[in-house]
Amino acid sequence: MRDQASRLRELVNRNTAKQVTGAVEAGTRILAVASGKGGVGKSNLVVNLAIALAQQGKKVIVFDADLGMANVDILMGLVPRYNLYDVLYGRRALAEVVIKGPAGIEVIPGGSGIQELANLPPQQQEKLLHSMKQIAGKADFLLVDTGAGISRVVVGFLRAAREVIIVTTPEPTSLTDAYGLIKILAKYGDQPQIKTVINRVTNLRDGKNTGEKLRMTALRFLNLELETLGYIREDKYLVKAVREQEPLLVKYPYADASEDIKLLAGKLLKMNIDRPMGVQKFFHRLQRLFG
Ligand SMILES: Nc1ncnc2c1ncn2[C@@H]1O[C@H](COP(=O)(O)OP(=O)(O)OP(=O)(O)O)[C@@H](O)[C@H]1O
Ligand SMILES: [Mg+2]
Repeated sequence: MRDQASRLRELVNRNTAKQVTGAVEAGTRILAVASGKGGVGKSNLVVNLAIALAQQGKKVIVFDADLGMANVDILMGLVPRYNLYDVLYGRRALAEVVIKGPAGIEVIPGGSGIQELANLPPQQQEKLLHSMKQIAGKADFLLVDTGAGISRVVVGFLRAAREVIIVTTPEPTSLTDAYGLIKILAKYGDQPQIKTVINRVTNLRDGKNTGEKLRMTALRFLNLELETLGYIREDKYLVKAVREQEPLLVKYPYADASEDIKLLAGKLLKMNIDRPMGVQKFFHRLQRLFG
């Protein structure tokens, strides 16, 4: 009874707060996608998950934060003319850098601007934050694609985001590296919600076994509760789509891997996120971690 009453009070308070400020908090969910080992399917997941979420009516922005080889745009057959670097040096406005992808998603190509983010003077950081808020503040999801491994920049992005998706395949090397990355995140104690996606599985049992192995190891040795978000099957249509530079979900929407990614999107949407982090908080945390 007491629980119900306090929930009610909370609801009432929340509504009054909205009335007072006259604005409803947009509450963008920030999801950063990473892996220990490279080439396990992060960028394909980000692009197709973004499309799947957009097809379910959500506004989605992809932030390509892979320093070494930004390739979100390549997977969509797009050629960005500018990237974040041009924004940081005042050559372009962020709105000019953003490119439109399929299903209404938008992509912010990070390029070499990502590295520069770390060294921005405060005034410029504020300017960037302002335009980020204008572009991404209205989005329901901001998906961040990172490079493989455990560089300072990648770890910074993961620590700043509240929700982290770690991608691995069932291969022992990929699993070990995924665990290594999770261990580093656990060490910082920021308590991010870590979800795992097992990619390139031959069947559901293969996926479940792998997910469980990782979950049990993290629980036992790190006392960390991971959530297995789901599995993506090995699919030759994904390889074909990459070659054809069209996202799998657009070119082969009913392929095995497409169906699996749609399930992942549905699962993410069903989660009850009380108060999404929002773009402002994310970039503030990023500034603090980089600075
Ligand atoms: N489910 C799958 N079925 C078949 N092939 C796959 C699958 N997922 C990924 N691949 C293969 O792996 C390649 C690499 O995928 P992707 O570029 O998404 O990985 P990545 O983790 O982003 O790599 P990097 O670490 O270099 O950024 C794809 O081009 C494709 O050939
Ligand atoms: Mg990639």
